[in-house]
Amino acid sequence: MSKEAKLELEGKVYPLPTIEGSEGEKAMDISSLRANTGYITLDDGYGNTGSCISKITFIDGEKGILRYRGIPIEELAEKSTFIETAYLIIYGDLPTRAQLRKFSDLFTEYQFLHEDMKYHFESFPMGAHPMAILSAMINATSCFDEELMNWRWGKSNQFDVYAAKLISQVRTIAAYAYRKSRGLPLIYPKKAYKYTANFLHMMFSTPYEDFELKPEVVKALDLIFLLHADHEQNCSTSTVRMVASSQANLFASAAAGVCALWGPLHGGANQAVIEMLVEIHREGDDGSKFIAAAKDKNSGRRLMGFGHRVYKNYDPRAKIIKKACDEVLAKLRVSDPLLDIAKHLEEAALRDSYFVERKLYPNVDFYSGIIMRSLGIPVEMFPVIFAIGRMPGWIANYKEIMEDAKNRIARPRQIYAGRTLNHYVPLEERK
Ligand code: SDX
Repeated sequence: MSKEAKLELEGKVYPLPTIEGSEGEKAMDISSLRANTGYITLDDGYGNTGSCISKITFIDGEKGILRYRGIPIEELAEKSTFIETAYLIIYGDLPTRAQLRKFSDLFTEYQFLHEDMKYHFESFPMGAHPMAILSAMINATSCFDEELMNWRWGKSNQFDVYAAKLISQVRTIAAYAYRKSRGLPLIYPKKAYKYTANFLHMMFSTPYEDFELKPEVVKALDLIFLLHADHEQNCSTSTVRMVASSQANLFASAAAGVCALWGPLHGGANQAVIEMLVEIHREGDDGSKFIAAAKDKNSGRRLMGFGHRVYKNYDPRAKIIKKACDEVLAKLRVSDPLLDIAKHLEEAALRDSYFVERKLYPNVDFYSGIIMRSLGIPVEMFPVIFAIGRMPGWIANYKEIMEDAKNRIARPRQIYAGRTLNHYVPLEERK
């Protein structure tokens, strides 16, 4: 079977080379399309457009498969930790004991922010959204690190340090943003605590007493981070790659990723799901009113946490989180009416032809907020938790671009539909 596609255009036939990935995904390479035909392609929302060849994460949306470097998310969720999985995603293999030790030691070494960054936190008003603070402070971090500010690819072997610094400090920045928003004193990280425990410590300890780090709480949050660690070319990761393609530094690219992730159609959905469930609960609706609104295009409502551009089956992460919801709430002896509403919504939607025909299933955001609520994390911090989890994926994608000798700056074309040739009209002649 010819591995070449043929495009017939205005009486001419143009060969298009094709590419097949390791899991059988196929693409037509249109890199020379415009030079050969004068045509470009147009693809609203890039639903049919591959931006890169990547070796990090594989998703089969039809089958509901997600693998990090070939390892199924179900196995990692059951057997791994967030930091071990972060190493796998960034460096391509599960770490040896020594590699994991070295990786963790870097987090301890770089977990403090430059002390002067404290004054930046003071400048944010109470109630500032922590995603705005997170993006601003990730960028600000590079202002306190001259080498990072002047980073030129290939001229610095500091990538591993910057990667560890970003993973470690995003946690510190997030916790400080939360404390600042509540007018609470900043809590410094502790050398003795591992990654996720230290984050909970910085979030919830007081100057007089350390937060009680219940193993089930630490494990549940670590699982949430792990499940968010990467997801191929989603909106925010594509943003990170776009910024990285100009050879901006790693922190600038990650700060841009935070902004893209914040939107309610993307990482902001976990916050929007809880706000939706609280509204349904407050109105005493059993969910059927809301589902009717979500199906009505004019209502401006969507069933948040449902649907996905790639998954046309159950998001495997949602399955894992739903199961963890029951386990964590039982262990913490928490009963949350929002969980019952969420389960009822899911059952009703999956029986409703509107959702079934459009293959709309729960995604990662549908149940994640309920676990985070049970851990005492405030709803405005939910997208921040997503950003902390996604940091290894952004770093791995940045590294892939940085190590690609053929990398070109990302610069899409457009089809212009505005006015044709026009001329300046002096002010006095304008009507
Ligand atoms: C994440 O890309 C990733 O990998 C993202 C992510 C990651 O890990 O990085 O998985 C994380 O962002 C998960 C998605 C979180 N967002 C939400 O839960 C918000 C609610 N979902 C939707 O807005 C929507 O489903 C998207 C944004 C997730 C996907 O949008 P698409 O692919 O552009 O689909 P679409 O808007 O074209 O919808 C197709 C149809 C439309 O109806 P018709 O015009 O065909 O009649 O399905 C309908 C939509 O109206 N639809 C919904 C719906 N989602 C889609 N209708 C009601 N409720 C919904 N949630």
